[in-house]
Amino acid sequence: MNKIISVITLSLFLSACGTEQATQNAEVAGAVVATQNPLLTVYKDPNCGCCKHWITHVEDHGYPTKTIEPQDMWALKDKLKIKGELQSCHTAVTKDGYVFEGHVPAKFMDQFLANPPKGAFGLTVPAMVVGSPGMEVDDKFRAYHILQMNNDGTTELYQAIDSYQQQF
Ligand code: CU
Ligand code: CU
Repeated sequence: MNKIISVITLSLFLSACGTEQATQNAEVAGAVVATQNPLLTVYKDPNCGCCKHWITHVEDHGYPTKTIEPQDMWALKDKLKIKGELQSCHTAVTKDGYVFEGHVPAKFMDQFLANPPKGAFGLTVPAMVVGSPGMEVDDKFRAYHILQMNNDGTTELYQAIDSYQQQF
């Protein structure tokens, strides 16, 4: 939806003011988005397609992203204290150091960042759940849990996702 609006807006600028003005306006629009949502640094495997689909999902939701493809994803996850059973394909980190592991819906990142629970450093959707954002396969959907990762090494349920629609 955001994408559609920005495409429409951009083409209006293009027809009204010419290319140069449109570029300036797009830059201004980009700056506005950046102040609303923090930049996400997304670490991913170069060969993984679902990571890219998730990046599109969060960008459409207004998160600017920067992608890094490290040599050793597992060393990185270890450093960020994301335990084996909590890991997924990609790892996103905000400038404040909050971590979103795997296919976390952007809606719940908004919710988390607006009001970070005390003692928590991030959210994870472990493994790769069919039907989560970036993991669409036809119209298949499997219920899953978004888990909250705490500084003391514990996890707790952040949100149970029982339907496809609940994710957006
Ligand atoms: Cu994935
Ligand atoms: Cu992936």
